[in-house]
Amino acid sequence: MENTLTFFLLATFLPYLTGDIHVEKIEIMPSGSPVWMLENEPFKIACEITMTIDDGSPQVHDITKNGFPIQQQGYTVTTTESVKDEKKILVHTVTKDVTYMEDEGRYTCQAGVKDDIKIIKVFTVYTQDTNITSGEDASIRCDPEPSIEQLKVVWYKFDQPVEAIPDLLPRLKLSDANHTLTIKDATAVDAGEYKCSIIFYDGTPIEQKFEKKAKMFGKPKILEEKSSVNGLKVMKNETLNLMCTVTGYPTPDVVWLKNGEIIKEQNIGEMMKAPFTLTHPIKNLSKSDMGEYSCSFENMMGRVTRSFVVDILGFEVNHGASVTSVFSTLISCFGVFLFLLLKAT
Ligand SMILES: *[C@@H]1O[C@H](CO)[C@@H](O)[C@H](O)[C@H]1NC(C)=O
Ligand SMILES: *[C@@H]1O[C@H](CO)[C@@H](O)[C@H](O)[C@H]1NC(C)=O
Ligand SMILES: *[C@@H]1O[C@H](CO)[C@@H](O)[C@H](O)[C@H]1NC(C)=O
Ligand SMILES: *[C@@H]1O[C@H](CO)[C@@H](O)[C@H](O)[C@H]1NC(C)=O
Repeated sequence: MENTLTFFLLATFLPYLTGDIHVEKIEIMPSGSPVWMLENEPFKIACEITMTIDDGSPQVHDITKNGFPIQQQGYTVTTTESVKDEKKILVHTVTKDVTYMEDEGRYTCQAGVKDDIKIIKVFTVYTQDTNITSGEDASIRCDPEPSIEQLKVVWYKFDQPVEAIPDLLPRLKLSDANHTLTIKDATAVDAGEYKCSIIFYDGTPIEQKFEKKAKMFGKPKILEEKSSVNGLKVMKNETLNLMCTVTGYPTPDVVWLKNGEIIKEQNIGEMMKAPFTLTHPIKNLSKSDMGEYSCSFENMMGRVTRSFVVDILGFEVNHGASVTSVFSTLISCFGVFLFLLLKAT
């Protein structure tokens, strides 16, 4: 207590003793009061001090929370100095790894005879994920607490406002001051990571924005109409591209199989946007490439598979040279046609 008193006296009177009165402006950022901080996220405020440049006298800069020096309360203060328009600008940045309720309070930044005061409030956001059952309504929630009046909630899916997703719009319902997002008749395609943006003082110069995620989990679903392709006849020496298009959240793991044995594992990047298109090329087809292939997708919600039975043509042909060439030209044309057809679908 005694230390604090000494500090306070020094902070208050030293500027007068040293004749330090060259502070032009002092401001705690972000602007606005109260300033909101989201619980469990990093804490950061900055005190910006603008001074006349020829000011050589010592400065006492003092940042306190509820009257006590901030350094003694678990915060880190770093200072940067710059010059702009012939003014010296000092920025004291106050940080803490994680924000807790106890970080609420009255923050003061003082330099010379000037000071700025800011009330900091901490809020929490409760989110609720959901599992999609195809054909039923799916709801996720994003509840800011306390839910003050100046607060707005806006939903996004992959950085796109939900209202801007044509397929979603007719089935979308926002309720409870936008805290609840419901998708009617949900399908696997709706699975994914949604984001709620919590905005204080929307559209004003003191606007503050925060983000939280709410997830709709969904089993992988193959989007091609046919879940199995039988008797896929292709010409030897050609390239065959097997293709599967899938959706699902969390992003599914992918394996390709041949006759039940894993031949390839593929990784879909977490940041990629569904639906995902996966291909498995088989080049220079030969007799040994015949068999049953499949693509298989799995996440915590389940697994789905698409299969292909591949027949290779062009081996039985063993007639005279002229016949072979006509025949193989014909078959090649057919092969190219089939290949293009496969590529197109
Ligand atoms: C969703 O399903 C998974 C796996 O079946 C389960 O572990 C999880 O608790 C479910 N989550 C919700 C929000 O129902
Ligand atoms: C609800 O969201 C819509 C757009 O998504 C927005 O225009 C509206 O202001 C929001 N309302 C509230 C109360 O947050
Ligand atoms: C198969 O393809 C290779 C190169 O891609 C070519 O050199 C060869 O002549 C082809 N064989 C047949 C029978 O078409
Ligand atoms: C294609 O396969 C045949 C044997 O089936 C081989 O002789 C030929 O070299 C291969 N061509 C290429 C380009 O790999």
